[in-house]
Amino acid sequence: MSDLAGMRKGYTVGALDAEALGGDPLVALERWIVEAAEAGALEPNAFALASVSEAGAPSLRFVLCKGVDGSGISFYTNLESRKGRELDGQGVAAATFWWDVLERQVRLEGSVARVPDAEADAYFASRPRGSRVGAWASPQSRVIEGREELERRAVEAEARFADGGEVPRPPFWGGYRITPVRMEFWQGRESRLHDRIAFEREADGAPWRTVRLAP
Ligand SMILES: Cc1cc2nc3c(=O)[nH]c(=O)nc-3n(C[C@H](O)[C@H](O)[C@H](O)COP(=O)(O)O)c2cc1C
Repeated sequence: MSDLAGMRKGYTVGALDAEALGGDPLVALERWIVEAAEAGALEPNAFALASVSEAGAPSLRFVLCKGVDGSGISFYTNLESRKGRELDGQGVAAATFWWDVLERQVRLEGSVARVPDAEADAYFASRPRGSRVGAWASPQSRVIEGREELERRAVEAEARFADGGEVPRPPFWGGYRITPVRMEFWQGRESRLHDRIAFEREADGAPWRTVRLAP
């Protein structure tokens, strides 16, 4: 029998203070992703993305972070998916990264907007050809008749681009950038006395304030 209540782990890998993070939490986030990759994390750039419906119901799924810059973090998806509709509709998002190998978490919250077409085109063009063709095949988040429908759509997309020419970015596929106004860095410590350093700013470009939170 499983003993979920008895499952617990002590955290001993590291410690954290505001000085070590530096003044820009987006720079620190990128560093933590790189450190997780170097430490052998399976998907170091994966994060749980929360969106919210018009009725205020939250929903959550993992996506892959494809860029961190001075104003935020970007990822790519089907714009007509559930997340696409909720992000376009409400303009807000939250994200949480977790790297078990480093016993670290980062969470952030802020506004979200589509990345410019030129940026989405450039990222789409950098993807392997199979992924570019595959983007045409899946009506993400829609109900389909069965696995056969997906495979039929994949064959149709293959046939469409069989000449080996350019595969354009589908009009329903693109990227979003979350511009955080709040970010929090968490490092597991012994006896559940974890370190939590939070950053807040009024808006993109405004100075960040730092505080320490109780675990
Ligand atoms: C590790 C991991 C990474 C993923 N990365 C992406 C991604 O970058 N973009 C994406 O659209 N879906 C990604 N997915 C699939 C999503 O979790 C989700 O199933 C899909 O986007 C549909 O979500 P929605 O119906 O809420 O729009 C990923 C799933 C996992 C487990």
